[in-house]
Amino acid sequence: MKFFIDTADIEDIKELIPYGLIDGVTTNPSLIAASGRDIFEVLDKICNIVDGPISAEVTATSYEEMIEESKKLSVISNNIVIKVPLTKDGLKACSSLRDKDIKVNVTLCFSASQALLAAKCGASYISPFIGRLDDISHDGMQLIQDIRSIYDNYTEYETEILAASIRHPNHIVEAALVGADVCTIPPSIIHKLFDHPLTSIGLKKFLEDWKKTNQKIK
Ligand code: G3P
Repeated sequence: MKFFIDTADIEDIKELIPYGLIDGVTTNPSLIAASGRDIFEVLDKICNIVDGPISAEVTATSYEEMIEESKKLSVISNNIVIKVPLTKDGLKACSSLRDKDIKVNVTLCFSASQALLAAKCGASYISPFIGRLDDISHDGMQLIQDIRSIYDNYTEYETEILAASIRHPNHIVEAALVGADVCTIPPSIIHKLFDHPLTSIGLKKFLEDWKKTNQKIK
């Protein structure tokens, strides 16, 4: 499963790059707003430091304006994947961009029927929002599983399932178990994946025992 980092914070991205875990980046209007930076400046910086797909979301709601915004965002870099909302205009834009060989991430997906439409419209990625479904007492992971089953029934669909709205490490493990292609993860949750109390306790004991030997690895 690929790991995308769900942030527009350059420092958070830079910190995680050396681990070799980051396969791409997703941004959205809320994340750009949280970064406090200009959208073009921040996307340009991200494209310069990450060698992988970088999702840049349109903010228009009409088909025509989405296409206009897509043109402006696409020229930032070859890495850019245009992110459109799962609306009628968004899917129309998805089909049109696919015809121009521009990759599209269809976002704000909350149902299997929506995911089916996105695949038919040639989306490169479908982004089901697991956490937001869990928040309203629906089963976000079941949606990932349903989309996986549907896409696996039809080899002509090339859409990758990008599990989004990740709230905790278990979301990532479960997404991997049900076969999501990608997980987009906030930096704070990537850091949590490293931790296990038994690792810390075990390491402390190893080091205490080693100290007693008075040896050094030379
Ligand atoms: O990238 C979009 C998605 O991951 C948003 O997550 O936490 O705002 O529901 P959240």
